[in-house]
Amino acid sequence: DFEYSLRPQTLRQYIGQEKVKHNLEIFIEAAKLREETLDHVLLYGPPGLGKTTLAAIIANEMGVNLRTTSGPAIERAGDLAAVLTALQPGDVLFIDEIHRLPRSVEEVLYPAMEDFCLDIVIGKGPTAKSVRLDLPPFTLVGATTRAGALSSPLRDRFGVLARLEYYGTDQLSDIVTRTAEVFAIEIDRNAAVEIAKRARGTPRIANRLLRRVRDFAQVRGNGTITIDITRTALELLQVDRLGLDHIDHKLMLGIIEKFRGGPVGLETVAATIGEEAHTIEDVYEPYLLQIGFLQRTPRGRIATPLAYQHFGIEVPQ
Ligand code: ADE
Repeated sequence: DFEYSLRPQTLRQYIGQEKVKHNLEIFIEAAKLREETLDHVLLYGPPGLGKTTLAAIIANEMGVNLRTTSGPAIERAGDLAAVLTALQPGDVLFIDEIHRLPRSVEEVLYPAMEDFCLDIVIGKGPTAKSVRLDLPPFTLVGATTRAGALSSPLRDRFGVLARLEYYGTDQLSDIVTRTAEVFAIEIDRNAAVEIAKRARGTPRIANRLLRRVRDFAQVRGNGTITIDITRTALELLQVDRLGLDHIDHKLMLGIIEKFRGGPVGLETVAATIGEEAHTIEDVYEPYLLQIGFLQRTPRGRIATPLAYQHFGIEVPQ
């Protein structure tokens, strides 16, 4: 389907994240040489950087099936047991948002990861018995936006820890160009660079902007995405020169205008601008921190002089 054909299928097709890619290449090849399953992999970093894509690539490169679930979808130990017992030898089990697994479920996961077995308690009270079931060997690929939110016993059971980083403009413009090719979209090179510059280091955003700009090119132009159409479209989409959108603006201007630049607590800003604290923390703040617009201090969030400058507001004395 649409999402799938868009995604690279192999490490070779995957653009960027050179360190992670290079390490994975070696670990995958070594596991294949030894005819073993790949060690468990934890992928962490901001949303939209390709964690799900990498999980699919790992399964593909290992020549095994990918089973996908998520932390919030697994409410009870029994849900996890059902997933684990359905695995075939060597399969990759992808658990997205793994930091949201309930603690009681995590405890079932430990022996599954370590010894490929499942401890099931049958019955209740003094006659309850624990039965150990063997599982097929598998590779767990966990994804999280914050490695710090994982309990340390869970984190410690991953043999491979891979941190995904924001992409540079070059890599993002290559991704935009590749996506345009997949969909037979005509795009000028400088237009691809412009979209890349405004994509907040994130392929998911770059590809979304590409689709929206294509709409403008089709309706207002002759279908080819030019630099002029790109600039006009991005302005109408309220994506600014640095790629900050309506919500980034609300967040930064909220801190600057309502709290004199901070420090202000996350919950307080969230309530003021009517967004979820979690969404701000996981989706919006990481990039604003990265570009130096925001600082996290023990007393709360602070807008930096760089942010004031971007919005054309004078820094208060
Ligand atoms: N599409 C989205 N992310 C990508 C990546 N990192 N490489 C290639 N195509 C992509």
